Amino acid sequence: MNNFTFYSPTYFVFGKGEENRAGEMVKRFGGNKVLIHYGGGSAVRSGLLDRVKKSLENEGISYVELGGVKANPRSGLVYEGIDLCRKEKVDFVLAVGGGSVIDSSKAIAAGTVYEGDFWDYYTGKPVEKALPVGTILTIAAAGSEGSPDSVITNEDGMYKRGASGEAYRPVFSIMNPELTTTLPPYQTACGITDIMAHLMERYLTNTKDVTTTDRMIEGLMLAMIEEGPKAIKDPSNYEVRANIMWAGMMAHNNSCGVGRSQDWISHNIEHELSALYDCAHGAGLAVTFPAYLSLVYKHDIPRLVQWATRVWGCDENKENPEETIFEGIKRYRAFLKEIGMPLTLAEVGGKEEDIDALAHTACYGEGGDGKLYGFVTLDEEQVKEVYRKML
Ligand code: NZQ
Ligand code: ZN
Repeated sequence: MNNFTFYSPTYFVFGKGEENRAGEMVKRFGGNKVLIHYGGGSAVRSGLLDRVKKSLENEGISYVELGGVKANPRSGLVYEGIDLCRKEKVDFVLAVGGGSVIDSSKAIAAGTVYEGDFWDYYTGKPVEKALPVGTILTIAAAGSEGSPDSVITNEDGMYKRGASGEAYRPVFSIMNPELTTTLPPYQTACGITDIMAHLMERYLTNTKDVTTTDRMIEGLMLAMIEEGPKAIKDPSNYEVRANIMWAGMMAHNNSCGVGRSQDWISHNIEHELSALYDCAHGAGLAVTFPAYLSLVYKHDIPRLVQWATRVWGCDENKENPEETIFEGIKRYRAFLKEIGMPLTLAEVGGKEEDIDALAHTACYGEGGDGKLYGFVTLDEEQVKEVYRKML
C-alpha cells in the first residue's frame, strides 16, 4: 500500500426529514448570508426548496437564491453566481440538488474569494480557498457531497474539466434518501452507473497488496448489483434508496481509494461525451466503461479475473483466463441494460464521424499532452479505439 493522507471533514446528517436541519447546520458552520443554489426545478416542485428556506428563516439566516443549474453545469451560471455572491456579501453556499448543483456551488464558492478567473482552477490550479459549501443531496450518483472535486462545462468550446482541492469538501451534507424517490428511473440508473464507475476507477490499480480497499470496493459493487434493480422496480423503497445513497458517498469520498493508484481514464473519455452531446454523465459511463475494459484488460489479467469472479460470480477458467474476463464484462453490460442504461455511442447521441474530434479533445484539450494516464497509458489512436468500441 502507498503512503497517504486522508482528510474528510464533511459532517453527514443522514435520514428522513433531516433537510429541516439545514438552518441549524448553516449556523453551526458560521453562515450568516447564504446563496441557495439549485437546479432546473425538481427541488421547487417537490417542496424541498420551501422547507429549506423555512429552516433558514427559523434560525434568522438571510439568503439569496440562484436556480437554473443544468445537468453538466455551465461556466456562465458560475460567473453569474460569483457576481451575485460578491454583490450580496454572501458567506455560505448551500447546494440543493445533485452533483451538477453541488459542483456549480463549489465553483461559485471558490470564484467569489479569488481575484482571478475561477476557470484557472479547472486548468490545474489547486483550490486552496473557497466559501464554505453545504449540500442537501437529491440524487445518489456523483458523490460530490463528500468529494473534493467539481466538474464544470466551459461554454466557450463545450468541454468539461474538473478541479480539486480540500477547500471543495462540503462542510456538511444532508442526505435524506426519501428525497431521491421522485427521481425518474433513468436518472436513478444513471446514478447507480456512476457509483459503479467510481468504484471501478479505483479498482483498476497498479498498486499491489491492497486487500482492504479491494474488499471494500467489491462489497460496494455487490451492494449496487443487489440494490440497483430493486430501486428501478420499486422507486419508493426507502431502505433500498438509503443503501444506494450511502454507497454513492462511500464510492467517491476516497475512503476506498486511499493508498492505491487509481485509473480515471474512462471518466476522461466520458466527459467528452456528456460535454458534446449533453447526455447524462452516468449514461456516458455505461457506454464507455465496458468498451474501455475490453481494450485494456490485458494489462493485468489476474486483477480482472479477480473482479469477474468476486463481483460478477463468474467461474474461473484457468486454461483461458481471458474467457473469465469476457464473461465478467458481459455480465456488467447485462446489469447496465437491466437497469435501463444505453450501451452504444448512438444511444447517447454520438456519431462515428465525431470520433477523431472526441479523441483529440480528450488527449489535447486544455492541459493535455496527447496521452491519457491511469491504469494504462493511452495515446490518441488508442482513445479513438475505445470510442470505436462503443459503436
Ligand atoms: O435540475 P433538476 O430539476 O433538479 O433535475 C435534475 C437533473 O435533471 C434531476 N434530479 C436531481 N434530483 C432529483 C431530480 N429529479 C427528480 N427528483 C430528484 N430528487 O436529475 C438530473 C441530473 O442531476 P445531476 O445533478 O446532473 O446528476 P448527478 O448527481 O449525476 O451529477 C452529474 C454531474 O456530476 C459530475 C458529472 O460530470 C456531471 O456533470 N461529476 C462530479 C463529480 C464530483 N464532483 O466529485 C464526480 C463525478 O464523476 C462526476 O464527473
Ligand atoms: Zn462519475
